[in-house]
Amino acid sequence: MKTNRKQVIDTADFLKQHITKQPRIGFLTGTGLSDTLNDLEVIAAFDYADLPNFPVSTVESHKGKLIYGTLSGKPLLLMQGRFHLYEGYSPEEVTFPIRVMQELGVKNLILSNAAGGINLNFSAGDIMIIKDHINLTGKNPLIGPNEDAWGIRFPDMTEVYDLAFIDLAKKIALRHKIPVQTGVYAGLNGPSLETPAETRHLKAIGSDAVGFSTVMEAITGVHAGMKILGISLITNINDPDAPQKTTLESVLKTAEKALGPLKRLLTDVIANIRDEC
Ligand code: HPA
Repeated sequence: MKTNRKQVIDTADFLKQHITKQPRIGFLTGTGLSDTLNDLEVIAAFDYADLPNFPVSTVESHKGKLIYGTLSGKPLLLMQGRFHLYEGYSPEEVTFPIRVMQELGVKNLILSNAAGGINLNFSAGDIMIIKDHINLTGKNPLIGPNEDAWGIRFPDMTEVYDLAFIDLAKKIALRHKIPVQTGVYAGLNGPSLETPAETRHLKAIGSDAVGFSTVMEAITGVHAGMKILGISLITNINDPDAPQKTTLESVLKTAEKALGPLKRLLTDVIANIRDEC
């Protein structure tokens, strides 16, 4: 079913009662990455279950909290845990929070995720700045009648991930001496992980990393006219010639170990987003 704009406005209106300064920044965290910001001053926190019309995250490794707060004086909305297609949510449900952010005035969207490395030059624990994506889900959140108040019918996808945002992230990584990779993220439905043959296919079509999130939200963000920064934490390497088993536990363990540099990077990126953005 298509998301009804009225539902989104109702959720946004509920949140507006708690918002003192319009947030320009929205941040969605991925598996094991809920606590990715240092020095966030929390003004209000909501369980998804307490937000009108909001889907509820079913994955334990995702916290299921929406936080309104400030970082370096900048108001922002932080979603600790997102919704995935593999949970059975529709593309519209997965992207409902992005529409709420749009109605609240968010212009800069940061999407983080845990991902498997396809590029064999990567290592587990690497941070990858997403430069482009391949939507392999067979789904699209914009299918159906276009909501003109939200965006145009045929959004251009030549620069999903904003080049200035990527430059800023790279500059800050350099300043903090945090090594970063750049690459293409392939978005699948999941939840089953990739077979070695699928990994070979992903590599052949130009993927550097693979995961089960981000592409629906990025497409919606583009439609909404947002500037997007995508960051993957590479939690495992998928080598089809030497396949190794991946478990949620191993993904979470690597994410935890690599969290320090990612926190420093994202905290400073947000502090340096220009106010007029
Ligand atoms: N595949 C898909 N999603 C993932 C992986 C993976 O190997 N690692 C972390 N998230």
